[in-house]
Amino acid sequence: MTRRATIVGTGAALPPRRVTNDELAARVDTTNEWIVERTGIEARHIAGEGETTATLATEAARKALAAAGVAPQQIGLIVLATATPDQTFPASATIVQTALGIDDCIAFDVQAVCTGFLYALSVADNMIKGGMADYAIVIGAETFSRILDWEDRATCVLFGDGAGAVVLKAEDGERGILATRLHADGRHNELLYVDGGPSTTGTVGKLRMKGKEVFRHAVVNLADVLSETLEAAGHRPEEVDWVVPHQANKRILDATAKKLGLAPEKVIVTVNEHANTSAASVPLALDVAVRDGRIKPGNLLVLEAMGGGFTWGAAVVRY
Ligand code: UT7
Repeated sequence: MTRRATIVGTGAALPPRRVTNDELAARVDTTNEWIVERTGIEARHIAGEGETTATLATEAARKALAAAGVAPQQIGLIVLATATPDQTFPASATIVQTALGIDDCIAFDVQAVCTGFLYALSVADNMIKGGMADYAIVIGAETFSRILDWEDRATCVLFGDGAGAVVLKAEDGERGILATRLHADGRHNELLYVDGGPSTTGTVGKLRMKGKEVFRHAVVNLADVLSETLEAAGHRPEEVDWVVPHQANKRILDATAKKLGLAPEKVIVTVNEHANTSAASVPLALDVAVRDGRIKPGNLLVLEAMGGGFTWGAAVVRY
C-alpha cells in the first residue's frame, strides 16, 4: 500500500465587503465593460478593519476542519501560503495555530505568490509521505488589497482578498495527491513584483505588473506543467474530471484549457466573483466546487497556478 496525503475537508473565507467594478470605476479611470471583457472579473472581496491574512486563514481552516471532522489537536502540520503575511515575522501560520488552540505542531509560511498553494500542498504532501505528520492543514490566504496601488488602474482592478484551506490526512490507498510538479524562473522578477521589502526599502511596497508579458508566459507554462504532472501521475487529459486553476483571468483559463484539449465546462471558474486572490484562489475555487456538489469523491482533479517569480506548478489529485 502507498501512503498518500488525501484531502478530507475544504474551507474558505471571504471578507464580507464585496466591491463591484462600477464601484472601482468611480475611483479610477476604468469601466465595468473593460474589466469584464479583458478579465472576466465582475467583483472582488476586500478586507476591512480587523480582517487580516491570518484571520481569514483561521476562518478557512476552521471550516475545513469541521468539514473533515478532524479536531485541531490532531493537526501535526500547518503550511500557510501567502505573500501578504500579517507580520514580516513570525510566520502567519503560527498565528493561525494559536487561534485554532493548537499548542504544538509544525507551522510555517511558504512564499511563492500565486503558486503558493501548490508549493504548500507539495511540501505538506511530501512531509506526510515522509512520516512527519498524519494530519495537516494547508492554507492559501491573502490580503492583496493592502499592497495594491489604488491609483494604478492596470493592477488595482485585478485582485481581491480571501482564504482557502484543505485538511490532509495520511491514508493508504488509491485516493489522495498522486503527483505534484513545481517550477521557478527568477529571471522574470521585473514582470511581477512588489517594489519594497524589509531588506531593501524597509517598507512593504506596492504590487507592479507588466500584465501582457505575464499573460503570455502563463498560458505556455501552465499548459506545460499540466501535461508534465498528468504524465507523472499516469493519467491523460481526457481522464480529468475537474480542472481547479489559479483564477487570474478568464482568458488565461480558456486559453490553457484549449491548448490541452480540455472541455471548458470541466474548468472551475470563480474569477468573476473573487478576482485574483493569489495563493488563496485555488483552494477557494476547490471549496466552492466541493460545496456545490460538482466535485465528488473519486473525481480526478488537476490543480494549477502561475505567478510572480515566475513560479508555476500543478497537482493531480484523486479526490
Ligand atoms: O496571478 C499572477 C498572474 N497574473 C496574471 O496572470 C495576469 C496576466 N495578465 C492579464 O490578465 C492581462 O494582461 C491584463 C488583464 C492585466 C491586461 O489585459 P490586456 O488585454 O493584456 O491589456 P493591456 O495591458 O495590453 O492594456 C490594453 C489597454 C491599454 O491601453 P492602450 O495602451 O492600448 O491605449 C491600457 O492602458 O487597456 C488599458 N487599460 C485599462 N483600461 C481600462 C489597462 N488597465 C485598464 C483598466 N481599465 N483597468
